[in-house]
Amino acid sequence: MVTIETPRSPRSRKSANREKLAWLFMRASGVILIVLVFGHLYINLFTGEGIKAIDFAFVAGKWADPFWQVWDTAMLWLALIHGTNGMRTLVNDYSERERTRKILNTSLWTVCILLVILGTLVTTTFDPCPDTSVVDALPQFCNK
Ligand code: HEM
Repeated sequence: MVTIETPRSPRSRKSANREKLAWLFMRASGVILIVLVFGHLYINLFTGEGIKAIDFAFVAGKWADPFWQVWDTAMLWLALIHGTNGMRTLVNDYSERERTRKILNTSLWTVCILLVILGTLVTTTFDPCPDTSVVDALPQFCNK
């Protein structure tokens, strides 16, 4: 008879607990992402004039409202952290050498942190009418 050994984590108990939290995070962030992503698609595509209305002024209008700033920032953070953590699972499952695993996971989290910082700067500091001498480059509604 073939006996299959009970799977045991090669890492410490502390790491096992972290994996449980990561498992829970994937489910919780998945549920929240459904609301954020489909709410985003509904508001952008089904209300008003639909896709034709999406331009610089549309985005500027949305980010003038703190509600949409928080919505979009939350969507950005959750999608990036969820996606990166999901890729970490794949890397851990498939990379055969410890060094490869570490390099890939470090690269993943570095890119994730960079994009979270850059994206958050965009959604929180975006100013459609910056005080600039290049007035021609500004959208028309800034010159009124
Ligand atoms: C509607 C939104 C989403 C839901 C409900 C969702 C749900 C989930 C769940 C429950 C898992 C865990 C699967 C498992 O452990 O077997 C997962 C894994 C994963 N998700 Fe998402 N997700 C969503 C959006 C995203 C987005 C936006 C990305 C990319 C940026 C992404 C990338 C991944 C990756 C790479 C995995 C790992 C796949 C694997 O372990 O085989 N997901 N997702």
